[in-house]
Amino acid sequence: MRKPLMAANWKMFKTPADTTAFFSAFLPLVKDASQSEIAVCAPFIDLPAALTAAAGSNVSVGAQNLYWANEGAFTGEISGPMLKALGCTWVIVGHSERRQYFGETDETVLRRTKAAIAAGLKVILCVGEMLEEREANQTEAVLHKQFGAGVAGLTPEEFAEVVIAYEPVWAIGTGKTATPEMAADAHKTIRHLAAAAFGEAAAASLRILYGGSVKPDNVSSLMAQEEIDGALVGGASLDPASFSKIVNF
Ligand code: PGA
Repeated sequence: MRKPLMAANWKMFKTPADTTAFFSAFLPLVKDASQSEIAVCAPFIDLPAALTAAAGSNVSVGAQNLYWANEGAFTGEISGPMLKALGCTWVIVGHSERRQYFGETDETVLRRTKAAIAAGLKVILCVGEMLEEREANQTEAVLHKQFGAGVAGLTPEEFAEVVIAYEPVWAIGTGKTATPEMAADAHKTIRHLAAAAFGEAAAASLRILYGGSVKPDNVSSLMAQEEIDGALVGGASLDPASFSKIVNF
């Protein structure tokens, strides 16, 4: 049985004070949520406040990116060992906003993923097609390419530390959700790719999250799909009540 993971991606929102306020409202709302694992991926500067607030709770904390070197002259970057030393559990790698605006490629996704795992972090690795690609019936081809170049280069041990988030780019922040069936189809493709690269058992235990306009009112129908093992939630994770409804779907 794959335990669902409900992960918040706060993107570039919230200060440390906002973070503390979020957790004091959020933790009581999810303290009995045992059906899902819960993670909050916050901006770097909010991580100490998030970790302090979440200590001893059922919520783990993650970052949204990392650099692949452990240390060095890389102005402005943050490494895996730094995140691990702080107490982070998770890191998001390859989010479509990083791919679109910050030059992330499948090759750099692979490097960051390997570095994160070497540092002892678990990775939420994002894949997904753009609108033009879906309209041109290229969704499967895009997933093949992103998986082949960005994931298949992991070792089986590394792959065991990865959760994949399928996020159709046209559904992110737009209010357009993939239908549960569309998401499940893409998840099946990803699971086939995982089976081909890492074997049936590894594929069967891989958690595949859906992301893209997940809200309290659509989470249940998404989670009803056997192929959907949780959600990566942007906008609706910023408000404690709304994210708690998603967690307690
Ligand atoms: P959204 O973002 O829920 O605001 O669509 C999801 C994501 O980008 O991870």
